[in-house]
Amino acid sequence: MKKSKDRVCPVWMAYTFDNPLRKLIHNPQKMFKEYVKEGMTVMDIGCGLGCFSIGLAKMVGKNGKVISVDLQKEMLDRLMIRAEKANIADIIKTHQCSADKIGVKDKLDFALAFWMIHETPDANDFLKQIYNLLKPTGKLFLSDPKMHVSEECFDKTIAEAEDIGFQIISRPDIVMSRTVVLLKK
Ligand SMILES: C[S@@+](CC[C@H](N)C(=O)[O-])C[C@H]1O[C@@H](n2cnc3c(N)ncnc32)[C@H](O)[C@@H]1O
Repeated sequence: MKKSKDRVCPVWMAYTFDNPLRKLIHNPQKMFKEYVKEGMTVMDIGCGLGCFSIGLAKMVGKNGKVISVDLQKEMLDRLMIRAEKANIADIIKTHQCSADKIGVKDKLDFALAFWMIHETPDANDFLKQIYNLLKPTGKLFLSDPKMHVSEECFDKTIAEAEDIGFQIISRPDIVMSRTVVLLKK
Protein backbone atom coordinates (compact mmCIF):
# COMPACT_ATOMS: atom_id res chain seq x y z
CA MET A 1 0.00 0.00 0.00
CA LYS A 2 1.35 3.42 -0.98
CA LYS A 3 1.61 6.16 1.65
CA SER A 4 -1.23 8.67 1.29
CA LYS A 5 1.04 11.52 0.20
CA ASP A 6 2.12 9.41 -2.81
CA ARG A 7 -1.52 9.00 -3.89
CA VAL A 8 -2.41 12.70 -3.81
CA CYS A 9 -3.16 14.26 -7.19
CA PRO A 10 -0.54 16.96 -7.95
CA VAL A 11 -1.57 20.38 -9.24
CA TRP A 12 -0.20 19.76 -12.77
CA MET A 13 -2.29 16.60 -13.09
CA ALA A 14 -5.49 18.37 -12.00
CA TYR A 15 -5.13 20.62 -15.07
CA THR A 16 -5.34 17.55 -17.34
CA PHE A 17 -9.00 16.95 -16.40
CA ASP A 18 -10.18 20.24 -14.86
CA ASN A 19 -10.20 22.20 -18.12
CA PRO A 20 -12.86 24.27 -19.94
CA LEU A 21 -14.18 21.21 -21.85
CA ARG A 22 -14.93 19.33 -18.64
CA LYS A 23 -18.34 20.95 -18.16
CA LEU A 24 -19.51 18.98 -21.22
CA ILE A 25 -19.26 15.77 -19.18
CA HIS A 26 -19.25 17.03 -15.56
CA ASN A 27 -21.74 19.86 -15.43
CA PRO A 28 -22.39 20.83 -11.77
CA GLN A 29 -25.82 22.36 -12.47
CA LYS A 30 -27.01 19.09 -14.05
CA MET A 31 -25.29 16.77 -11.56
CA PHE A 32 -26.41 18.50 -8.34
CA LYS A 33 -29.73 20.16 -9.24
CA GLU A 34 -31.77 17.65 -7.22
CA TYR A 35 -29.69 18.17 -4.09
CA VAL A 36 -28.39 21.75 -3.98
CA LYS A 37 -30.66 24.78 -3.54
CA GLU A 38 -30.19 28.48 -3.07
CA GLY A 39 -29.06 29.49 0.42
CA MET A 40 -27.53 26.11 1.35
CA THR A 41 -24.19 25.56 3.08
CA VAL A 42 -22.19 23.04 1.07
CA MET A 43 -18.67 21.61 1.21
CA ASP A 44 -16.49 20.58 -1.75
CA ILE A 45 -13.86 18.38 -0.10
CA GLY A 46 -10.76 17.64 -2.16
CA CYS A 47 -11.89 20.53 -4.34
CA GLY A 48 -8.69 20.67 -6.39
CA LEU A 49 -8.76 23.51 -8.93
CA GLY A 50 -12.42 23.99 -8.13
CA CYS A 51 -14.67 23.54 -11.16
CA PHE A 52 -17.32 22.07 -8.84
CA SER A 53 -16.86 24.74 -6.16
CA ILE A 54 -17.53 27.42 -8.74
CA GLY A 55 -20.61 25.62 -10.06
CA LEU A 56 -21.89 25.06 -6.52
CA ALA A 57 -21.34 28.74 -5.63
CA LYS A 58 -23.57 29.74 -8.57
CA MET A 59 -26.23 27.32 -7.31
CA VAL A 60 -26.29 28.39 -3.62
CA GLY A 61 -26.04 32.08 -4.51
CA LYS A 62 -25.25 35.07 -2.30
CA ASN A 63 -27.29 33.70 0.63
CA GLY A 64 -25.42 30.40 0.61
CA LYS A 65 -21.88 29.30 1.32
CA VAL A 66 -19.40 26.93 -0.33
CA ILE A 67 -16.58 25.63 1.85
CA SER A 68 -13.82 24.46 -0.46
CA VAL A 69 -11.40 22.15 1.32
CA ASP A 70 -8.14 20.66 0.13
CA LEU A 71 -4.85 19.39 1.49
CA GLN A 72 -2.89 21.48 -0.96
CA LYS A 73 -2.77 25.26 -0.51
CA GLU A 74 -1.82 25.71 -4.15
CA MET A 75 -5.13 24.14 -5.25
CA LEU A 76 -7.04 26.56 -3.00
CA ASP A 77 -5.07 29.58 -4.25
CA ARG A 78 -5.71 28.67 -7.89
CA LEU A 79 -9.40 28.03 -7.16
CA MET A 80 -9.73 31.54 -5.69
CA ILE A 81 -8.16 33.11 -8.78
CA ARG A 82 -10.86 31.37 -10.85
CA ALA A 83 -13.57 32.40 -8.38
CA GLU A 84 -12.51 36.08 -8.57
CA LYS A 85 -12.73 35.92 -12.37
CA ALA A 86 -16.20 34.34 -12.14
CA ASN A 87 -17.27 37.06 -9.65
CA ILE A 88 -18.38 34.58 -6.99
CA ALA A 89 -15.36 34.72 -4.65
CA ASP A 90 -17.43 36.11 -1.76
CA ILE A 91 -19.56 32.92 -1.68
CA ILE A 92 -16.53 30.58 -1.35
CA LYS A 93 -14.52 30.09 1.83
CA THR A 94 -11.36 28.00 1.51
CA HIS A 95 -9.95 25.73 4.18
CA GLN A 96 -6.66 23.82 4.08
CA CYS A 97 -7.15 20.50 5.89
CA SER A 98 -4.70 17.79 6.90
CA ALA A 99 -4.80 14.31 5.37
CA ASP A 100 -6.67 12.79 8.31
CA LYS A 101 -8.68 15.71 9.69
CA ILE A 102 -11.18 17.82 7.75
CA GLY A 103 -11.39 20.43 10.52
CA VAL A 104 -14.51 22.26 9.26
CA LYS A 105 -16.93 23.58 11.91
CA ASP A 106 -20.01 24.52 9.83
CA LYS A 107 -22.98 22.16 9.64
CA LEU A 108 -23.63 21.13 6.04
CA ASP A 109 -26.68 20.62 3.84
CA PHE A 110 -24.61 18.90 1.17
CA ALA A 111 -21.07 17.57 0.78
CA LEU A 112 -19.27 16.66 -2.42
CA ALA A 113 -16.26 14.33 -2.45
CA PHE A 114 -15.41 13.96 -6.13
CA TRP A 115 -12.51 11.75 -7.26
CA MET A 116 -10.76 12.15 -3.92
CA ILE A 117 -11.78 9.57 -1.27
CA HIS A 118 -9.40 6.99 -2.78
CA GLU A 119 -6.58 9.44 -1.95
CA THR A 120 -7.45 9.65 1.77
CA PRO A 121 -5.44 7.55 4.24
CA ASP A 122 -8.54 6.12 5.98
CA ALA A 123 -11.79 6.22 3.97
CA ASN A 124 -13.87 4.91 6.86
CA ASP A 125 -12.74 7.64 9.24
CA PHE A 126 -13.17 10.22 6.48
CA LEU A 127 -16.82 9.12 5.95
CA LYS A 128 -17.47 9.33 9.71
CA GLN A 129 -16.15 12.90 9.77
CA ILE A 130 -18.45 13.88 6.92
CA TYR A 131 -21.40 12.12 8.56
CA ASN A 132 -20.84 14.23 11.69
CA LEU A 133 -20.61 17.46 9.68
CA LEU A 134 -23.90 16.91 7.82
CA LYS A 135 -27.19 18.22 9.16
CA PRO A 136 -29.93 15.58 9.60
CA THR A 137 -31.08 14.69 6.06
CA GLY A 138 -27.89 16.22 4.64
CA LYS A 139 -26.46 14.46 1.60
CA LEU A 140 -23.05 13.28 0.45
CA PHE A 141 -22.34 12.99 -3.28
CA LEU A 142 -19.45 10.55 -3.48
CA SER A 143 -17.67 9.74 -6.71
CA ASP A 144 -14.43 7.97 -7.59
CA PRO A 145 -12.69 7.62 -10.97
CA LYS A 146 -13.20 4.27 -12.71
CA MET A 147 -9.58 4.29 -13.86
CA HIS A 148 -8.26 4.23 -10.27
CA VAL A 149 -11.00 2.49 -8.28
CA SER A 150 -12.49 -0.94 -9.01
CA GLU A 151 -16.20 -1.63 -8.65
CA GLU A 152 -15.41 -4.00 -5.78
CA CYS A 153 -13.42 -1.35 -3.95
CA PHE A 154 -16.12 1.30 -4.44
CA ASP A 155 -18.82 -1.13 -3.22
CA LYS A 156 -16.74 -1.74 -0.10
CA THR A 157 -16.64 2.01 0.56
CA ILE A 158 -20.44 2.20 0.14
CA ALA A 159 -20.91 -0.71 2.57
CA GLU A 160 -18.76 1.12 5.12
CA ALA A 161 -20.86 4.25 4.63
CA GLU A 162 -24.04 2.24 5.27
CA ASP A 163 -22.53 0.83 8.48
CA ILE A 164 -21.88 4.40 9.63
CA GLY A 165 -25.57 5.29 9.10
CA PHE A 166 -25.78 6.59 5.55
CA GLN A 167 -28.58 5.43 3.26
CA ILE A 168 -28.14 5.13 -0.51
CA ILE A 169 -30.63 7.38 -2.32
CA SER A 170 -29.23 7.34 -5.85
CA ARG A 171 -26.54 5.84 -8.10
CA PRO A 172 -26.17 8.56 -10.79
CA ASP A 173 -24.45 7.74 -14.04
CA ILE A 174 -21.51 10.15 -14.17
CA VAL A 175 -19.00 9.84 -17.03
CA MET A 176 -15.77 7.96 -16.11
CA SER A 177 -16.98 7.63 -12.51
CA ARG A 178 -18.44 5.34 -9.89
CA THR A 179 -20.96 7.43 -8.00
CA VAL A 180 -23.41 7.24 -5.13
CA VAL A 181 -25.55 9.80 -3.31
CA LEU A 182 -25.88 9.10 0.40
CA LEU A 183 -28.37 10.49 2.89
CA LYS A 184 -27.67 11.04 6.58
CA LYS A 185 -30.61 9.23 8.19
C1 LIG B 1 -8.06 13.91 -8.33
S1 LIG B 1 -8.15 15.46 -7.51
C2 LIG B 1 -9.88 15.87 -7.73
C3 LIG B 1 -10.14 17.34 -7.56
C4 LIG B 1 -11.60 17.77 -7.74
N1 LIG B 1 -12.48 17.12 -6.80
C5 LIG B 1 -12.06 17.53 -9.15
O1 LIG B 1 -12.82 16.59 -9.39
O2 LIG B 1 -11.64 18.30 -10.02
C6 LIG B 1 -8.09 14.99 -5.78
C7 LIG B 1 -7.99 16.18 -4.84
O3 LIG B 1 -8.20 15.72 -3.50
C8 LIG B 1 -7.25 16.33 -2.65
N2 LIG B 1 -7.05 15.45 -1.49
C9 LIG B 1 -6.38 14.27 -1.45
N3 LIG B 1 -6.45 13.75 -0.21
C10 LIG B 1 -7.17 14.60 0.53
C11 LIG B 1 -7.59 14.61 1.90
N4 LIG B 1 -7.26 13.64 2.74
N5 LIG B 1 -8.33 15.66 2.34
C12 LIG B 1 -8.66 16.66 1.48
N6 LIG B 1 -8.29 16.71 0.20
C13 LIG B 1 -7.57 15.70 -0.26
C14 LIG B 1 -6.01 16.51 -3.52
O4 LIG B 1 -5.16 17.51 -3.02
C15 LIG B 1 -6.65 16.89 -4.87
O5 LIG B 1 -6.84 18.27 -4.98
